[in-house]
Amino acid sequence: VYQLLPRDRSLPPLVFHWLPFVGSAPAYGKDPIGFFTQCREKYGDVFTFILLGRRVTVALGPKGNDFILGGKHTVLAAEDVYAPLTNPIFGKDVVYDVPNEVLMEQKKFVKVALTTEKLRAYVHMIDEEVRNFLNTDPAFQIYQMNDINEWGAFDTIKTFAEMTILTASRTLQGREIRNNMDKGFAHLYTDLDHGFTPLHWMFQDLPLESYRKRDAAQAKMSEFYQNILRNRRAAGSQDEDDVMSSLMQQRYRDGRALRDHEIAHIMIALLMAGQHTSSSSSAWTLLHIADSPEIGKALYQEQVEHFGAGDGHFRPMEYEDLKKLPVLDAVIRETLRMHPPIHSIMRKVKSDLPVPPTLAAPSEDSVYVVPAGYTVLASPALSQVDPLTWKDAQKWDPTRWYDQDGAAAMAQRQYDEGTKVDFGFGLVSKGTESPYLPFGAGRHRCIGEQFAYLQVGVIVSTLIRHLELRLDQAFPQPDYTCMMVQPKKSQIVYRRRHFD
Ligand code: HEM
Repeated sequence: VYQLLPRDRSLPPLVFHWLPFVGSAPAYGKDPIGFFTQCREKYGDVFTFILLGRRVTVALGPKGNDFILGGKHTVLAAEDVYAPLTNPIFGKDVVYDVPNEVLMEQKKFVKVALTTEKLRAYVHMIDEEVRNFLNTDPAFQIYQMNDINEWGAFDTIKTFAEMTILTASRTLQGREIRNNMDKGFAHLYTDLDHGFTPLHWMFQDLPLESYRKRDAAQAKMSEFYQNILRNRRAAGSQDEDDVMSSLMQQRYRDGRALRDHEIAHIMIALLMAGQHTSSSSSAWTLLHIADSPEIGKALYQEQVEHFGAGDGHFRPMEYEDLKKLPVLDAVIRETLRMHPPIHSIMRKVKSDLPVPPTLAAPSEDSVYVVPAGYTVLASPALSQVDPLTWKDAQKWDPTRWYDQDGAAAMAQRQYDEGTKVDFGFGLVSKGTESPYLPFGAGRHRCIGEQFAYLQVGVIVSTLIRHLELRLDQAFPQPDYTCMMVQPKKSQIVYRRRHFD
């Protein structure tokens, strides 16, 4: 009934719902992009919906992205929204358990550890891990029979989850973690990961097994990293060339070194931040390639032309090569356009916040105000498939990212010339007012972008060098019930290339 009462005209329109506390949770949880699209038709670019007792104001489009991602951190706080989910997983004194200024310092520590020199070395490690995976994982042991390579199949989610954690642990996480991956570390990761769900976010400390296992795994994993740090110190081997050792050497602005538990918890945060994002991106990329034989051929041709022979003897990939492969670049960009793993970016409003009239207003001479205590939500995932911005928005078409002559285009060809945005080099998009922000923007922007781009790029290149791909089923729908948008259960059919 309260929805029918006259409302304060400065409040953004409220999405109609039947159940008071639950609100629009079922529609949002099932298909957030569909829900936002329907709400936009009814209420415009700014509206509020009820999500399990919380009031969430959504701001859509590039201007909505700018409003939320470009906001002051004293007014729009990420930690207030994300902490209940991430603090029990990452642990104390890092990321959203600390004031925003400290998070900024911690992000800088990690950035410093990800130098170009390190990324350069990672290319070979990732390639080696993927080749090793192809040679050992049971799903890939179907070989030549009677001179004809047989077709086999692999499970998309399982394969990329495993490949991602192996490649990330070999590179970012360091030697000890990689060596222990088969000896218990993977189980700890699984228990921790089962606590990374919308349920654990919305309800803290339910008396469920998964909560208990999450907390036990966090404590054990934290101890595991701290043990490595102690061992390294005792052995005098602080300068192992990896992120952990870089964190051991850095200082906060006040001159204080990082404590062991802070280093441990930053490492856990990196593990979690990079896992589902990269693995779902690799999975969607391979699914699209398998579904588009023409692009698959172009991608393979690009590898042959750039790296040498078609007889299976490719020259090893180097970091610099990644910038010279327009088809691969376009395939990754286009996949991140249609399937960014994060569909909702949220902040808590700390003091009443006027909505810029250029974004939405109740009338010409008044403005909307989002009250303190509300949550605000931006969805680059929606602006990235908005037909007002993108031609054939729902079509996966990597060619929109490169010119006819094959050179990587700086701006999307079909993008409205009048408001063209500089998408930058690589995947870097500048500024917060952009329709394309798979890595976010502003203070909380991703620091793993270059690593993720490299990881997905090398995984895709290595697989495409060795496998022909096919999809024998309908293209899978997105599964929005997990924290990151991944494909519903699906298989990719493959055949080893002749020379393999
Ligand atoms: C932040 C996307 C991989 C570490 C973000 C944000 C997005 C994002 C959208 C902004 C969140 C917000 O504003 O609330 C992605 C995608 C990835 C990816 C699409 C892969 C395809 C990684 C990797 C790492 C990482 C590999 C670690 C090595 C981080 C960190 C933040 C972040 C530390 C900052 C959080 C903050 O400041 O609040 N990422 N990410 N990400 N990401 Fe990533």
